[in-house]
Amino acid sequence: MTTLAKPATRPARPEFSSGPCAKRPGWKVENLQGALVGRSHRSKPGKARLKEAIDQTRAVLQIPADYLIGIVPASDTGAVEMAMWSMLGGRPVQVVAFESFGKDWVTDVLKQLKLKDTEVLEAGYGKLPDLSKVRKDADLVFTWNGTTSGVRVPNADFIADDREGVTICDATSAAFAQDLDWAKLDVVTFSWQKAMGGEAAHGMLILSPRAVARLESYSPPWPLPKIFRLTKGGKVALDIFEGATINTPSMLCVEDYLDALKWGASIGGLPALQARSNANLQVLADWIAKTSWVEFLAETPAIRSNTSVCIKVVDKRVTDLPPDAQADFAKKLASLLEKEGVALDAGGYRDAPPGLRIWCGATVDASDVEALTPWLDWAFQTLASELQSA
Ligand SMILES: Cc1ncc(COP(=O)(O)O)c(C=O)c1O
Repeated sequence: MTTLAKPATRPARPEFSSGPCAKRPGWKVENLQGALVGRSHRSKPGKARLKEAIDQTRAVLQIPADYLIGIVPASDTGAVEMAMWSMLGGRPVQVVAFESFGKDWVTDVLKQLKLKDTEVLEAGYGKLPDLSKVRKDADLVFTWNGTTSGVRVPNADFIADDREGVTICDATSAAFAQDLDWAKLDVVTFSWQKAMGGEAAHGMLILSPRAVARLESYSPPWPLPKIFRLTKGGKVALDIFEGATINTPSMLCVEDYLDALKWGASIGGLPALQARSNANLQVLADWIAKTSWVEFLAETPAIRSNTSVCIKVVDKRVTDLPPDAQADFAKKLASLLEKEGVALDAGGYRDAPPGLRIWCGATVDASDVEALTPWLDWAFQTLASELQSA
């Protein structure tokens, strides 16, 4: 096979990492000059800034007025584990896992919390488990969008309106890009560095009235570190959800998150953010449709992520190789793209089938995804022809 000439155009912003993700278009560090640095987060202006982040989150994500929104420590993981440690144990638990992070929540439930009455609904990379097995009597932990497999749940129809359990949804790579069905979700979590391209380390914890009722009616039998404590004297600590964070947040990161939210609102809010992700996915879908060496990892369009788009190499010259050599090929592909400065951090997740993962969230421009695709062909053909001549 003849090698392709290098494409003439490079993506203007080659950041395609799935977290921390690309900053918003037009982001500059100077935008953060108004950050409340050197001030207490408990000062009047500090609290106001945190409350503004909560209020803007509600506005942009269209979160129902009776849901609580809190800024919590330890990023998305902190928010998910806080909910699990605070709420689980009183009734059966089901955990839906279809990629690495869902599997982490399985480990928490089985090996750390050591809950007895549990059921794990699992599927391999590229698939969803049978969601019709989700029961209404059980608590449910699931990931809305599996960042490492590029698979998402298409909707929340598998959750009953008259459920008895609470649903805990890790939505970190879904929020701002996909429609979250708030009526079906009791706990929703995400972190700032994903779809909005914010800075890492802070988690968002969103609670439905049913989640609040659970917190106020159930005390887990295990000790809870301060960082996980959401109640005081049997009542939800409402101040957390007004901006009185459990421990100290970074006011610089808060400013950056606010900057991202304001940008999101300025372009048209949630529908516009979702449209940008969809447009990015469409660029890749159009390219994949005419490209024989590559396929989506997600097996069907309905479960295909519009944020963490995972693609796998299906060319026989690669798939006929032993697994280690396939993984090596995928690694080289990502390295070559990185070396050319056209796609940074686009390697697939270490446990996922060999391929690439291209973040398509709202902060990425479709023109950059467009500019990337000829480079993907170039990099593949360059490495495939080396295989042939080896
Ligand atoms: C689905 C999912 N859950 C959890 C996490 C962990 O997120 P954090 O680093 O914000 O704790 C990630 C990170 O990529 C993720 O994609």
